[in-house]
Amino acid sequence: MTRSPAGTGAVPTARPADPGPGGAGGPRVVVSRAGVRYGDLTVFDGIDLTIQDREIVSIVGPSGCGKTTLLRSIDGLTRLDSGSVSIDGTVVDGPTPGVSMVFQHFGLFPWKNVYNNVAYGLKLQKAPKERIAQVVPEYIDLVGLSGFEKAFPHQLSGGMQQRAGLARALAVEPQVLLMDEPFSAIDAQTREILQFELLRIWESRPIAMLFVTHSIEEAVLMGDRVVVLKGRPSHIHEVIDVGIPHPRTRDTLKSARFQDVTAHVWDLLMQDVIEAEREVG
Ligand SMILES: Nc1ncnc2c1ncn2[C@@H]1O[C@H](COP(=O)(O)OP(=O)(O)OP(=O)(O)O)[C@@H](O)[C@H]1O
Ligand SMILES: [Mg+2]
Repeated sequence: MTRSPAGTGAVPTARPADPGPGGAGGPRVVVSRAGVRYGDLTVFDGIDLTIQDREIVSIVGPSGCGKTTLLRSIDGLTRLDSGSVSIDGTVVDGPTPGVSMVFQHFGLFPWKNVYNNVAYGLKLQKAPKERIAQVVPEYIDLVGLSGFEKAFPHQLSGGMQQRAGLARALAVEPQVLLMDEPFSAIDAQTREILQFELLRIWESRPIAMLFVTHSIEEAVLMGDRVVVLKGRPSHIHEVIDVGIPHPRTRDTLKSARFQDVTAHVWDLLMQDVIEAEREVG
């Protein structure tokens, strides 16, 4: 089978929830003084973060600082102990329509084939059969999986599984896309291909996106802003405006601005490690 890396690139057209040109802008997600505790452990505290429509915000921070917990709070899966999250002005108190999450380990149902995995969210929303039949192949094509509709997750490579995970998240046409280290379990080459494919998909249909990663380069490449979480309990240490226009390409990686921002974020994250080493030495 011949196919382009991400299908025909045709962007699905049926977008009932899309505000359309001129209807966009303004805050989509507002996190206000948010805190989460597990017993004696305060994971984070006092987190204030606003994600605008059509904005990608990357989050970096040491392992255990609460990145997944923060995404789960925005997705309505983890309850905050203080503060609030609102989406389009409505306070989140459970799973919210219009919010989709892509998980690190793909989160596919092993007993469902690609088609049914991608259709899952739409079926959950009780979308009409005709709409499911129209939309699912469009998103499978968008992520370059046409021809693999009947394949089960165990028959796919990691990269293909994550393409399916992405198609599933996008098929419900979310206003907010939450991505938790979506490419960390994928080999370096496929990861780079998927980063640019995701950027291309986002550039053709920009929505609010929160992108958690351990890769500083990936955070800067994907993000319009990079949020650095640090400390115990963790808090927002710094928010960096990346200041690199879209579309972003492989040339972006070579630009002076990309190198500068990457070096700055690296310094912020390494300060603690270097200070700890100094104390030991
Ligand atoms: N359900 C839970 N019960 C108790 N503690 C939890 C629970 N979920 C997370 N934690 C703790 O909260 C802290 C933050 O976890 P979280 O998974 O959000 O970190 P993270 O920044 O995503 O880390 P990583 O980069 O390793 O994915 C950790 O100390 C973790 O052990
Ligand atoms: Mg995590």
